[in-house]
Amino acid sequence: PIVHTRELVEAAVAAGTGVAAFNVITLEHAEAVAEGAERAGRPAILQISENAVRFHGGRLSPIAAATAAVARASTAPLGLHLDHVVTPGLLEAAPGEGFGSVMFDASVLPYDENVAVTAKMAAYGHRHGIWVEAELGRVGGKEGEPALDAHAPGVRTDPDEATGYVAKTGVDALAVAVGSSHAMTERTAALDHGLIRRLREAVPVPLVLHGSSGVPDDEIRAAIAAGMVKINVGTALNTAFTAAVRKSLAARPDTVDPRKHLAPAREAMAGTVADFLGLLPVR
Ligand code: G3H
Ligand code: ZN
Repeated sequence: PIVHTRELVEAAVAAGTGVAAFNVITLEHAEAVAEGAERAGRPAILQISENAVRFHGGRLSPIAAATAAVARASTAPLGLHLDHVVTPGLLEAAPGEGFGSVMFDASVLPYDENVAVTAKMAAYGHRHGIWVEAELGRVGGKEGEPALDAHAPGVRTDPDEATGYVAKTGVDALAVAVGSSHAMTERTAALDHGLIRRLREAVPVPLVLHGSSGVPDDEIRAAIAAGMVKINVGTALNTAFTAAVRKSLAARPDTVDPRKHLAPAREAMAGTVADFLGLLPVR
């Protein structure tokens, strides 16, 4: 069933564990997340990024409706979230499309501008029952972005700045830059666990780890122990999907029915989902 993101996050905080959010690009992604969550016996969040909405012609409805239908039919508790939204109109469309939560991403803007636009978006979201996540500091590697030097100023989130940011914007969760980067196909990121602990003490709302595909298993476990709550995973699903499609194409060069290639790809993604969910402690 569909469960509100707020409920899933609050349950994770109460249990001292994390909740994983997986990026959905195609219908098969949504099906794989539901299957992986059912197999693991854990809740999960299905998240659709603004990029993925654009891929489907810029219309939220088709991919949102498909994802919501998958969640409704699943026995696993599944949240519906819009990810990396940069266009205010998309956040405003979220409540009508069945989403419980939105990440509004103004992280490329200077601090004051990020605060101003995010506060406005959070207020709008709250009037419509939306749980709002925002980002301070910059997790690099987003589409169309130059690679960031992990040690450049602003790339790591400053705890004092984060305290003020949450107070001024009223957001429900904060994505922080602590050493992970988006779109990594190798799991080699090293996180700053001391910084995660300082952020958890400084910030009264749950912390969100972006770019978790590049973070090794033990680093994810340590990040949750240090205070991370929402764990965002995207690229790892695509790595599994594409490897399975490549293998299938090579094994069956004459097969033109896409289902023959998509079935193993969906199965591989479900395995990846279950593996990530298995990292979250059960308490
Ligand atoms: O918001 C989405 C996540 O940060 C996914 O990052 O594709 O590097 O796992 P990833
Ligand atoms: Zn992200």
